[in-house]
Amino acid sequence: MAEQSGTKPVSDKTFLTDVKTLRERARKHIEQGAITDGYKADRDTVVKILNEALATEIICVLRYKRHYFMATGINAESVATEFLQHANEEQGHADLIAQRIVQLGGEPNFSPEGLATRSHAEYVEGSNLIDMIKEDLVAERIAIDSYREMIAYVNTDDPTTRRMLEGILAMEEEHANDLVSLLETMAR
Ligand SMILES: [Fe+2]
Ligand SMILES: [Fe+2]
Repeated sequence: MAEQSGTKPVSDKTFLTDVKTLRERARKHIEQGAITDGYKADRDTVVKILNEALATEIICVLRYKRHYFMATGINAESVATEFLQHANEEQGHADLIAQRIVQLGGEPNFSPEGLATRSHAEYVEGSNLIDMIKEDLVAERIAIDSYREMIAYVNTDDPTTRRMLEGILAMEEEHANDLVSLLETMAR
């Protein structure tokens, strides 16, 4: 790492850059907004994986909406309420991800073309309530694994993206738990 003059040691490993260097660097590429010279991740790759996550979230919104409107049977009302809540939360995730892509200087891909291919999770309609819940559970488990991998990839190179992904992962885990509970309730 260059430009370490005037730094002071913090414990035994990190060095803080001096104020003058920080200010100079901040001025240099102001058009890059939040992306400073200190950004450690490979930005193109981060944008690419975030666009895959965006496609995954959009597919999940569509699938949950379909399930919400198609839910029928004696348990339909409570299950449909859960489907709708998940749909809205997946939409929230999509928005967070799109926002982060823009902050990173990328463009969020909302194109319907290739959407299902970019998505990790699948759009499966399901023919009855149990099928729908099972398909949603499969999709959540796919999302959980892929968010975990993304977090490991980003690691400490982009803490903001990582924190966002960790928040989303925690909610996908909640979604999976909700779905397991629904299946258990319906098996009674
Ligand atoms: Fe999500
Ligand atoms: Fe989810």
